[in-house]
Amino acid sequence: MKLPSPAATLPPRLVRLRDGRDYRLRPLHRGDAARLAEMFATLSAESIRARYGYLIHDMTPERATRLVDVEPTHEIALGIFSLRADGREDRLWAMGRLVHAPDHRTAECAFIVHDSQRRLGMASCLLRYLRLLGRRRGLPRLFAQVRRENKGMLNVFSQGGARLHFSADSDVVEIDIPLWRAKNLFDNPPPAPSIPRMSMPVKKGFSLVELVIDLVLVAGFFTFFYYVLQSHVPSNDPTMVRLWATLAAGCMSGVFWLALQMMKTVFRFQRANRK
Ligand SMILES: CC(C)(COP(=O)(O)OP(=O)(O)OC[C@H]1O[C@@H](n2cnc3c(N)ncnc32)[C@H](O)[C@@H]1OP(=O)(O)O)[C@@H](O)C(=O)NCCC(=O)NCCS
Repeated sequence: MKLPSPAATLPPRLVRLRDGRDYRLRPLHRGDAARLAEMFATLSAESIRARYGYLIHDMTPERATRLVDVEPTHEIALGIFSLRADGREDRLWAMGRLVHAPDHRTAECAFIVHDSQRRLGMASCLLRYLRLLGRRRGLPRLFAQVRRENKGMLNVFSQGGARLHFSADSDVVEIDIPLWRAKNLFDNPPPAPSIPRMSMPVKKGFSLVELVIDLVLVAGFFTFFYYVLQSHVPSNDPTMVRLWATLAAGCMSGVFWLALQMMKTVFRFQRANRK
């Protein structure tokens, strides 16, 4: 099994999309700045605004380099490229990005697919690989924030197993993507805990001595409170005083019995673990 690494990356691979063509999916690097600028040159203003929240008018080489040349322990950017007949990469059509939160317990993900290549499964494919990378990086979950009207992105996330949290007073939908593997019917059972849990105490037989001790303790408790409570019953009728003192002391004795059993369970558990 691969151990999590905060800088885990992905070897290039071919992915076949809905148009029946093969594309190359791989992490972006410094050499991709020109291809990114080329992609941005023909992206619609709505797509850029939907992805970045504002319009990027000029994709300068410095800006393009910043977007592709990322610090691998904090960020990873994947791209999908079309291929020429000779197998060389042609154009960049889609990007998906993970940006780690400062505490490295989660990462934000975001996507952009060129307007001319929509509904081919590019975003869904990127999401699948970003989830894989998130797991390899040891992240328990990913998150995203998507505008309520961005139905396309919301559908990609919900079909990719994300949880969508709508709130009445916000235009932004919070997306939560747990990365723990769902439990499979054929998974090996988890190893038995080295310390038995209290919910499965060591089986013990019936002990008459213990029962008698418990009954004596409860009877003593009952008697003590029966006499104490009599002076607190607001009545002068001796029958009423006895009746209410008996009922109240009886209830308290029941609770005492339960507390006694719980205390004995904890002691038994602690003793078993000391052995
Ligand atoms: C949202 C976006 C990334 C989707 O990319 P995509 O590659 O077209 O998505 P996919 O092909 O993987 O779509 C998968 C499913 O999502 C749903 N979907 C995708 N786009 C949709 C749209 N515009 N309207 C409704 N559903 C849509 C569909 O159910 C689709 O499956 P189907 O084609 O079998 O019906 C793309 O439209 C985009 O780049 N938008 C602009 C940038 C943006 O909004 N980024 C999000 C910021 S976080």
